[in-house]
Amino acid sequence: MSFVGRDLISMNDLTREEIDGFLRKVDVVRDHPGKKQLCTDKVCAMLFFEPSTRTRTSFDSAMRNLGGRIGGFYDPRITSAVKEESLWDTVKMHDGYGFDVMVIRHPLKGAARLAAEAVEMPVINAGDGPNQHPTQTLLDLYSINETQGTLDGLTVAMVGDLANGRTVHSLTEALLKYNNCRLIFISPRDLAMPGFLIDKCKKAAEQGGATFTEGRRIEDHIAEVDILYMTRIQTERLHEMTALAEKFRSIYRLEAGMLKDAKPTMKVMHPLPRVTEIAQDVDQTPYAYYFQQARNGLFVREALLALILGAVR
Ligand code: CP
Repeated sequence: MSFVGRDLISMNDLTREEIDGFLRKVDVVRDHPGKKQLCTDKVCAMLFFEPSTRTRTSFDSAMRNLGGRIGGFYDPRITSAVKEESLWDTVKMHDGYGFDVMVIRHPLKGAARLAAEAVEMPVINAGDGPNQHPTQTLLDLYSINETQGTLDGLTVAMVGDLANGRTVHSLTEALLKYNNCRLIFISPRDLAMPGFLIDKCKKAAEQGGATFTEGRRIEDHIAEVDILYMTRIQTERLHEMTALAEKFRSIYRLEAGMLKDAKPTMKVMHPLPRVTEIAQDVDQTPYAYYFQQARNGLFVREALLALILGAVR
């Protein structure tokens, strides 16, 4: 397994063996005695065309923790994109400015793949519209393994806007690579998991891999799940359906009282930001893991940068 110089655009870019190998490296980098010198001569271009708190800040901190530097922008309104410069040209400029790796977030599906074709340096997808968010999935897998001790044989419920949530798309693709996982997709019909991913799940089931079901109510599945993966309604991607968002929010909401039949080892995860889908009283329960999960994003992104930049092998 080598990550040196590689793009990370989709979870489909990685085999199970590569994901497992990567997850083993996370703690190596996290506890590396010379971490502050691993990337002292390296510079990361951060191209954020969409808002972000966790992904942006943790990549920023990760690069600094490795001794590297950061450039780029976090608001496309202060770039020449407002003068109608194409994405291709905007991205391509960065090859000439001394950067070693690019992290890009963009509202359009396929933007990160296009960026990877435009530039020589390796490109990391930090979220492309409703499509993929592979670094979120790597930190999700790290967190799931940390809490369950395995990634095989788990029952994982994904709840909320499964149509537009890139985190659940990437996570589904990843868990299909593991043995005997049971996936439960809980959403309103209007926001169900896209057909192409349901088809992949069906194919995996036919081949004796993961199984899946679709449900409408969180309460029906609390007792059976190892991971309850909550997501918000992606109002920014709902377009003509925004009027339905409030209704969906009230239905797909987890409260502490609903967790009384949960397995003792069950964890509630969420890529964050949350809006109303997890009540604050859940934070005080032993099931809440979303803040630790977000913190793991720092360690996962440190490892990813160190591996892609060849600082750790
Ligand atoms: N999970 C996640 O991608 O959060 P941000 O949008 O804040 O980066």
